[in-house]
Amino acid sequence: MTLNQNDGTGRITCPVLMVQRRFWKGSGAMERTLEPEVMDGEEQVRAYAHADFAEENQGFVDQFLDLYPDFQEGTVLDLGCGPADIPIRLLRGRPTLHVTGVDASGPMIQWAEEAMHRAGLQGRIRLIRQRFQELRLDPPADAVISNSLAHHVPNPFQFWYAVKTLAKPAAPVLIMDLLRPDTEEDAQALVDRYAADEPDQLRQDFYHSLLSAFTEDEVAAHLAEMNLSRLLIDVPDDRHWVVSGRVY
Ligand SMILES: C[S@@+](CC[C@H](N)C(=O)[O-])C[C@H]1O[C@@H](n2cnc3c(N)ncnc32)[C@H](O)[C@@H]1O
Repeated sequence: MTLNQNDGTGRITCPVLMVQRRFWKGSGAMERTLEPEVMDGEEQVRAYAHADFAEENQGFVDQFLDLYPDFQEGTVLDLGCGPADIPIRLLRGRPTLHVTGVDASGPMIQWAEEAMHRAGLQGRIRLIRQRFQELRLDPPADAVISNSLAHHVPNPFQFWYAVKTLAKPAAPVLIMDLLRPDTEEDAQALVDRYAADEPDQLRQDFYHSLLSAFTEDEVAAHLAEMNLSRLLIDVPDDRHWVVSGRVY
């Protein structure tokens, strides 16, 4: 792919960056406000690991199992695995699989290791503390999942590049993340609706995550730019987008 082009005025332009800038804003809605990429504050990690994401995480795992009933063996790469609740649920749902969980946060990987041992799954989960942008896998993964990582990533093309290159051709994919609301008031209303009784730290993180998230149009544009348009994007509720399909 040619990254730099002369636009006839003598300026050098870069289509990838232009698309990124053009779609950075939602449909006339508020701009994206980035939150810190890695979750490595001790209190932040403790609040996240103690939070009850059972319904959302089990729903994500059930969707993967329903979408790919023939995917019975192989290694699933979980990008931004956090405290490993999703890998553990996935392996309980399909005991023939293995998971490689990657997270850049030391405290998060420590929680994941403890949870993995408590679940007795240390033989089937491999945890790696690393930024996914630097990860190399040989052999590549047989499937890729990721929940709630994309909104942490400053450059979304790095995220989709990793999904594409860290997996084998035709690997099943399931990615879920938050949708950026139109206004800060809408974001606050979602926090009040879905996290009313949660600790302040979690409510603040949820609010900042919503402001840092992508819109459906932006995700569709990122997929098109990365030649991943075969993947399907769905908006199942008022605060999530889900991308599924097979990567080639
Ligand atoms: C909101 S948590 C989601 C955790 C888990 N997927 C879940 O659903 O419970 C996002 C995680 O991504 C990790 N993360 C952020 N940027 C990362 C990067 N560049 N490489 C690897 N992990 C990253 C954070 O440290 C954090 O643990």
